[in-house]
Amino acid sequence: MKALSESTITNKKVLLRCDFNVTYKDGTIIDDSKIQKSLETIKHLLDNNNKVIIFSHLGRVKTEEDKANNSLAIVYEYLKDYIELEFINNPLDLSKVTDVTNCNCFLVENTRWTDVPEKKESVNDLDLAKYWASFGDVFVIDAFASLHRAHSSTAGISKYLPTYYGFLVEKELNNLEPLVNNELHPFIVIMGGAKVDDKIKIIESILKKCDKLILTGGILNTFLKVSGKNVGQSLVSKEEDVLESVRRVLNNNKEKLFFGDKFVIKRNGEILTVSLKDIQDGDIIYDNIPNLLDILNDGKIIFYNGTCGKYEEKEYEFGTLQLLKDLNDTSASVFIGGGDTVGATIKFGYKDSFKYLSSGGGATLEYVAFGSLKALDWIKENGVEN
Ligand code: 3PG
Repeated sequence: MKALSESTITNKKVLLRCDFNVTYKDGTIIDDSKIQKSLETIKHLLDNNNKVIIFSHLGRVKTEEDKANNSLAIVYEYLKDYIELEFINNPLDLSKVTDVTNCNCFLVENTRWTDVPEKKESVNDLDLAKYWASFGDVFVIDAFASLHRAHSSTAGISKYLPTYYGFLVEKELNNLEPLVNNELHPFIVIMGGAKVDDKIKIIESILKKCDKLILTGGILNTFLKVSGKNVGQSLVSKEEDVLESVRRVLNNNKEKLFFGDKFVIKRNGEILTVSLKDIQDGDIIYDNIPNLLDILNDGKIIFYNGTCGKYEEKEYEFGTLQLLKDLNDTSASVFIGGGDTVGATIKFGYKDSFKYLSSGGGATLEYVAFGSLKALDWIKENGVEN
């Protein structure tokens, strides 16, 4: 696989995988940063006389209803203001690419639509990848935020076409190097977000690299519960293997783990701010406030992923807001990852305050924790040589 920046691709049919998995509400895109960051590669390919067929997923698609609720038409409407393009409303029928001759750019409907009724895209179905590949000469992967998934559109196509990585992937890999190489210490990681189940393996791995780990958001609840604290009716993991891992993490990392002792809870319809010891049986935690500037000030390099609470709602924004303010006050190099976390960073006015805002959520976490990304590994092993 070669870098697009070091290659000349002209007069080709290019299959381009972007990550347009954007947050949107009531038909409006709330955070367009992923699309904006993809424009450089798209425009470059078009300026070089290529025909560009763009793929992306949007949301999680498991039912017909999910399909209707996750259409890339919303991204098509947005992109029309930047480039001339046509929309292909069925990812299993790309005939429009050959039928429409007066257009050089196409956006294909959500690749995950092919997962219903039977999974194709997300199991890296190679027949599907081959079908898509039959419409192109080369494949450019620029969906950094999707590289932790080896799917037909992120990996499979590379088996049939010479593959290049785009400007965004190159930029992300370069910028995240200090976190992945683990050369700067003290290295502090802050992990938040809603659910611990899909993050516990990452937590275990990241603890081997970092000096301190601050836990916040919904994932903190399970750690508190396992250590015998009352978290009321708050969301906690019920998976026995996850609980066992949490127990192990707590036992083995007593010196490394930290959390803020201020929680915004709902009690009988009332919103209160309390300490952990004051949480009662019926309470639900909606926000955790990590008042930990002293600890953050020790860091040379800090990686923050996952919000502290439901920051979109005024009553529960304080934890995330306070943390961003504190991060801004440290002299450490601060890296932010994750759709929601970047969204909050922009919303609260810290867009230009930190060393780097990554377009990846899970991908950035996995890259930092494990030093590898499944789609890139798959391409290296199975992709066509170029
Ligand atoms: C993201 O937003 O992190 C990526 O688009 C991946 O989305 P996924 O977790 O649904 O695969």
